Amino acid sequence: MTPHEIQAMLPEIERIAREAGGLVRAGYRRGASHTRTDVSKKGAIDLVTEFDLRSEEHITRELGRVFPGVEIVGEEAQGKRAVTDAVGGALRFFVDPIDGTTNFAHGHPFFGVSIGVCAGVTPVAGVIYAPILEVCWRGAQASGCFRNGEACVVSRCEPLSEALCATGFGYDVAGKRDDNVPEFSAVQARARGVRRCGAAALDLALVADGTYDAYWEFMLQPWDLAAGAALVIAACGQATGFEGQALNVLEGAVVATSCGALSQELLGVIREVRGGRPVPVRHASARA
Ligand code: IPD
Ligand code: CA
Ligand code: CA
Repeated sequence: MTPHEIQAMLPEIERIAREAGGLVRAGYRRGASHTRTDVSKKGAIDLVTEFDLRSEEHITRELGRVFPGVEIVGEEAQGKRAVTDAVGGALRFFVDPIDGTTNFAHGHPFFGVSIGVCAGVTPVAGVIYAPILEVCWRGAQASGCFRNGEACVVSRCEPLSEALCATGFGYDVAGKRDDNVPEFSAVQARARGVRRCGAAALDLALVADGTYDAYWEFMLQPWDLAAGAALVIAACGQATGFEGQALNVLEGAVVATSCGALSQELLGVIREVRGGRPVPVRHASARA
């Protein structure tokens, strides 16, 4: 598919993301979500609610109807099965029906529906809709990036000392030595600030629209980062792996910034604190 054909998919993807966001909004701070009676656990601290399932069901049905033949990888249907590489760089959707489920279940407004389009392992387009914040980001290489319909780009290139950064901590880091906490402390000491708001997709969208200057995280799943990374690239920013290589969404490690110089500075701090240990990747063999 050409970049223009991919861009032409965005209005329908946005419609679907907004509809799913409406379903999720209906459960916000109400009944199941706020009293948490209907919250189940996928892991010790990894939650799933009936709204994650409803949202994914709607998205999967609609994407399948409008774009027949395009593979759909949804978080809840995929479960813990590993995602494999797409044959020949075929187009596919990565769907996170609620990114930031812990926030949703606690009545915290920082969560959203995320639909990413990848060519194989490379993010090429995305829509993220945050129904309580009432912000929708959408973008692709051919069109650029939009926030609630207005064109947006990444922030000006600032040194790390003037950068507002964001990061996150996965659910499966408890007890692991590689938990991103030393990196968090080191960057916090050198940057203007580091936020940890609990939704990777929104963190990336906020780099794309210039709110944050930089974001990094590792051990993500492809549905956490596919749409957001596509938005950052569409907004003229950088979204790469930790060696500065082209992003592979299956590796789950991303550094997203407003410019190459800030990426280098941030990566320098992270490398220093890691003392030469590479960041963990989920599917190193799937490198494109
Ligand atoms: C999580 C969020 C969080 C990130 C975790 C993800 P979920 O996604 O994006 O910010 O740190 O690694 O798993 O489970 O809320 O969809
Ligand atoms: Ca997620
Ligand atoms: Ca999710």
